[in-house]
Amino acid sequence: MKKLSLYIEDWANRCFSPRFNPFYYLGAISTLFFIILLISGIYLFIFYRTNSPYQIVQDLTEKQWYLGGIMRSIHRYASDGLIISLLLHTLREYVNGRYSHYRWLAWVSGVILFIISLILGISGYWLVWDQRAQLIALKTSELLNDVPLFIEPPSRSFLSNESLSGMLFFLLHFLHSALPFAMLILIGIHIMRCSRPVLKTPKVITIAVIIMLLMVSVIKPATSAKPADLNRLPLTPPFDWFFFFIYPVKSILSKPIFWSMTTGVIMILFIIPWIKRHRPPVAQVVLENCTGCDQCNKDCPYGAIRLQPRTDRLAYKMEAVIMPERCAACGICVGACDFNAVNLPGMNDVQIKEDIINLLSGIQRIDKKPKILLWVCKQSIRFNGTLDIIKRMTNVKIISLPCIGMIQSEMIEAGFNAGADGIFICSCVMGDCQYRKGNIWLQERLRDKRPPLLNKRVDRRRIREYWMSPVHTTRLVAEIDLFEEELSAYHISGST
Ligand code: HEM
Ligand code: SF4
Ligand code: SF4
Repeated sequence: MKKLSLYIEDWANRCFSPRFNPFYYLGAISTLFFIILLISGIYLFIFYRTNSPYQIVQDLTEKQWYLGGIMRSIHRYASDGLIISLLLHTLREYVNGRYSHYRWLAWVSGVILFIISLILGISGYWLVWDQRAQLIALKTSELLNDVPLFIEPPSRSFLSNESLSGMLFFLLHFLHSALPFAMLILIGIHIMRCSRPVLKTPKVITIAVIIMLLMVSVIKPATSAKPADLNRLPLTPPFDWFFFFIYPVKSILSKPIFWSMTTGVIMILFIIPWIKRHRPPVAQVVLENCTGCDQCNKDCPYGAIRLQPRTDRLAYKMEAVIMPERCAACGICVGACDFNAVNLPGMNDVQIKEDIINLLSGIQRIDKKPKILLWVCKQSIRFNGTLDIIKRMTNVKIISLPCIGMIQSEMIEAGFNAGADGIFICSCVMGDCQYRKGNIWLQERLRDKRPPLLNKRVDRRRIREYWMSPVHTTRLVAEIDLFEEELSAYHISGST
């Protein structure tokens, strides 16, 4: 599953470039659809009347086709778009394992958002009160008949036109208008553990989505079926699978199987974050080194660091504190700190620098090949035996990190000081960091756009960045060979 998703994303990278790959913006695309739904929904809300729902919608579609009709169609297609983007967003977070531990809040609020989106879609169709609405009203009430909460079976409300209550439309209308506001609050909760959440799609994607919605709205405007008539059974009205999939499932399964399956699936979705138990140890602050500069807090992708007034006698005002329940153990704060004041247990800066010296001193210069220190992120090299091939390269030594954003500028200098001729940094494609920001922050640090800056004396030509999809791991060997050739050409290899 993971491999398949990577191949699809890699294909999208080739078509759109990683900067505009829609798969890297599924949260933002969902937000975009939500905003479009809010705007078009407010327009429809202004005209909607609960006493003559069918006629009002029909008038909007026919008499005001140039705006009301277009708004209605956009509202319809954006709701389908939201379900597609939510499905993909959920699948992507799942296959990337981004649901457990500190992400439980995003996951659980996401599941609730998904369920509310489905309810909104169904209630939206219902508000039109055509034959399709009649069918889903009947099917939904049959579903609700099984819930032992109602004094009278809800399907009784749909026995005849006379038994149909205006109150029901009022309630539906209220539900359909109030739930989006509940969603707004939930979206706030959903992203509260992501610092700098990507809520905005790049302009190109926004324009493409709007043009696509406008095009389908013009080519195939949303229309109503015949008016609902409870004295007749609805003939086969058009069916929207994005929202109504539950009804055919219910009709083919027996009542006990259907309900145990539905509650089972919902329960599993809610408890998924707690199924995966292993959690790596979280980051720790070395207080005596901390100057309270705030850079770790600025770089932490999950808002897991806060600054508090100093608790020791050092002359700085503030000190960094890790909030363990939010920490992803990505190590990005290690790379952000210029004072070695934050560490991951078992991987502190002293150990890493010792490893660098030991690894590089172990290289024999028999074949005069340049000594290369290869930094990789554990997420980027997953498949095939590429690492084994590289391990057999006598002049290349590997250090593997939980996220590439953990590299400190000092660690790069330590590599050169320990005799490396070149530093090769390999990690995931921009936009696709398991911890959201690791590769972006490192690239900015290397390009002097983000502190801590790399020492000016370091020869940038001896550093190679390689951002790749894990499906291209085999290309890594060829890239390293190329780097070797370039290093030799600069006359900066060990032979000089
Ligand atoms: C209207 C519905 C939703 C909207 C608008 C939305 C939007 C977003 C946004 C903007 C982010 C931050 C992306 C980033 O900056 O890295 C995000 C993250 C996330 N979303 Fe959603 N989302 C929605 C529904 C869902 C659903 C249904 C799920 C899954 C059940 C889900 C799971 C997640 C997870 C796990 C993250 C955290 C990713 C991480 O920690 O790296 N979301 N979402
Ligand atoms: S970056 Fe380092 S020195 Fe600055 S506040 Fe964070 S831990 Fe302290
Ligand atoms: S390890 Fe990652 S999530 Fe934890 S505090 Fe550091 S940057 Fe934040």
